[in-house]
Amino acid sequence: MRPLAVVGNANVDLILGPAAPWPKAGTEIIVDHDELRVGGCAGNSALAWDSLGVDYAIAANVGNDQFGTWLRQAFPERSRSWPVENVGTTLSVGITHPDGERTFFTTRGHLPLLTFDEVRSMLDGETLRGGYALLTGSFLTDALTADYDRFFEWADTHDIAVALDTGWPLDGWTEANCAATVGWLKRCRLALFNEVETTTLTGLSDPIEAARDLKAHMPEGAIVVVKRGPHGAIAVGADGGLSSVAAPAVSVVDTIGAGDVFNAGFLAALAAGMPLAACLSTGVTIASEAISTLPRSYGKPLSSFLQETGA
Ligand SMILES: Nc1ncnc2c1ncn2[C@@H]1O[C@H](COP(=O)(O)OP(=O)(O)OP(=O)(O)O)[C@@H](O)[C@H]1O
Ligand SMILES: [Mg+2]
Repeated sequence: MRPLAVVGNANVDLILGPAAPWPKAGTEIIVDHDELRVGGCAGNSALAWDSLGVDYAIAANVGNDQFGTWLRQAFPERSRSWPVENVGTTLSVGITHPDGERTFFTTRGHLPLLTFDEVRSMLDGETLRGGYALLTGSFLTDALTADYDRFFEWADTHDIAVALDTGWPLDGWTEANCAATVGWLKRCRLALFNEVETTTLTGLSDPIEAARDLKAHMPEGAIVVVKRGPHGAIAVGADGGLSSVAAPAVSVVDTIGAGDVFNAGFLAALAAGMPLAACLSTGVTIASEAISTLPRSYGKPLSSFLQETGA
């Protein structure tokens, strides 16, 4: 198994609802459901790796409040060297609506303060040599993102393949955000985007064509994955070949972080040496399980996926 790491945004999510849109200012609504949980792309992927039973490193930070303490406790061993920033922890309050939509209110909190020097001090490049680093939350981690060049240099030095999932930019896919993302992809060996992101980034409506277009900007042998919600996922492999996996029909309780859970399953399978189609299928299977269970479960450990594929 090749080593795995995730770098980026971990925060606290408080999910409340359902509430029919939208209350009048100054009123109070009683809702049936609440859940306080680890959120953020890096947090979601790390939880999924825990559940798959794989080893990994996580480079993240927290704020100096109770939420920060709580967040670190979710990763007791792996959060030991996380920096505590001199601000409150980023908190995202998600209000669910009866039609499945959600509205988020998020504080800026600790995420913009994560720096490359902090990340480098949390990760041992030699231990991670030959492995994969999932880079997330590009539009939230301002200080780190400003230093991505140094991060890519560090990864190259240790032969660590960077897998990028930027997440959706707060100000949308402006020309500047698209250009920045394509610039980062030039240094990444994997792209893990969803369908709307892939087609918006490239201006091409067909996800396969869009994936091939992104791959053309990336280093030789790059893999481009397109996550397609209820339609599963496709990938253009290192050799340019197309793999595609359908998603099982499940009854969805909550799709928050579906893409991050997929990323965790896909990369764990890749690190274990499974073929590309089996990696897609591992990602889809654990994402399906996660979005259809309450409390959230991720299903089987990675070892049982390995047995099934004989890898
Ligand atoms: N409605 C759904 N029905 C079945 N499977 C789903 C559904 N939504 C997501 N999935 C599964 O989760 C995977 C990732 O979801 P999606 O394509 O929505 O990624 P994403 O948009 O990056 O998610 P995120 O909102 O976390 O950023 C899909 O490839 C699929 O396997
Ligand atoms: Mg996503």
